[in-house]
Amino acid sequence: MNTVITPEQNSLEQDKSVNPEQTQFTSAQGSQKQPSTSFVSQFDTQTSQKKDAKSTDVKISTQDVHVYYGETEAIKGIDLNIYANEVIAFIGPSGCGKSTFLRTLNRMNDTIDSCRVTGKVMMDNQDIYDPNLDVVLLRAQVGMVFQKPNPFPKSIFDNVAYGPKLHGLARDKYDMEEIVENSLRKAGLWDEVKDRLNQPGTGLSGGQQQRLCIARTIAVSPEVILMDEPCSALDPIATAKVEELISELSNQYTIAIVTHSMQQAARVSDRTAYFHLGDLIEVNATEKVFTQPDHQLTEAYITGRFG
Ligand SMILES: Nc1ncnc2c1ncn2[C@@H]1O[C@H](COP(=O)(O)OP(=O)(O)O)[C@@H](O)[C@H]1O
Ligand SMILES: [Mg+2]
Repeated sequence: MNTVITPEQNSLEQDKSVNPEQTQFTSAQGSQKQPSTSFVSQFDTQTSQKKDAKSTDVKISTQDVHVYYGETEAIKGIDLNIYANEVIAFIGPSGCGKSTFLRTLNRMNDTIDSCRVTGKVMMDNQDIYDPNLDVVLLRAQVGMVFQKPNPFPKSIFDNVAYGPKLHGLARDKYDMEEIVENSLRKAGLWDEVKDRLNQPGTGLSGGQQQRLCIARTIAVSPEVILMDEPCSALDPIATAKVEELISELSNQYTIAIVTHSMQQAARVSDRTAYFHLGDLIEVNATEKVFTQPDHQLTEAYITGRFG
């Protein structure tokens, strides 16, 4: 039995203040060519230091989730459990629905007029599409980091303080300073910015901006962090820093990351979900997906036959 979800206008209006970068959601995705050879050997070397097995507590559960843009069905009935403190990577050819599915996990699709979601998404046994749910609060609990770093046109300090201020999380000025410092430390940015907290966030390098956006997300104490190709606008060194950060953050948060880089999925994730034309084809331990996938469509993708 599917529930039709109608976005609430109020929440949308509020959302614009938290997420003024909405236009990014509809921006075209790059269709990057995948490497055709030697992937498996890269996988072996690059994931040797992966973490121990994660918990099996289900953090988010989707049941028969369909997403439509007008008449077009972009997600065709997806059931997926995401476990607490795992890093799960979403991979698949451009246009297969990775971003669309990711956005169902914190109701970001509500912000797209033509978009309609059916089915169930539960987080900790709470239906996140419950019409009485506070969507702004949900998006603090399930934070999101986007493809292109999008700091607010504010100081570094105010970028991080923005969410805590909105949600009234700091008792006083000192408490706020502590939240900002801790968030910047967790995002691995503190040492680089501690002497220029009052300078504009937009003045940082691309990689620093992305870590600032991660600090901004962390500042409201989320439980889950969604990342949609967070490194695709970054150079290799900045990418390596963000990937390292993702591994550290997974000790504390549950992370779902869309990536068009299979090497990145291999490096950072515990499990990988392969999407194809709106279907979830396979979800398995990352190592298995990249060495012995269950499905021939997955195999065709990872061996570079399409992408
Ligand atoms: N805002 C939108 N309006 C209409 N169609 C969209 C929108 N966003 C995505 N789509 C369509 O939904 C499908 C899945 O897109 P998307 O989730 O962006 O895929 P991916 O992230 O895997 O590249 C594509 O066919 C895309 O054209
Ligand atoms: Mg996408």
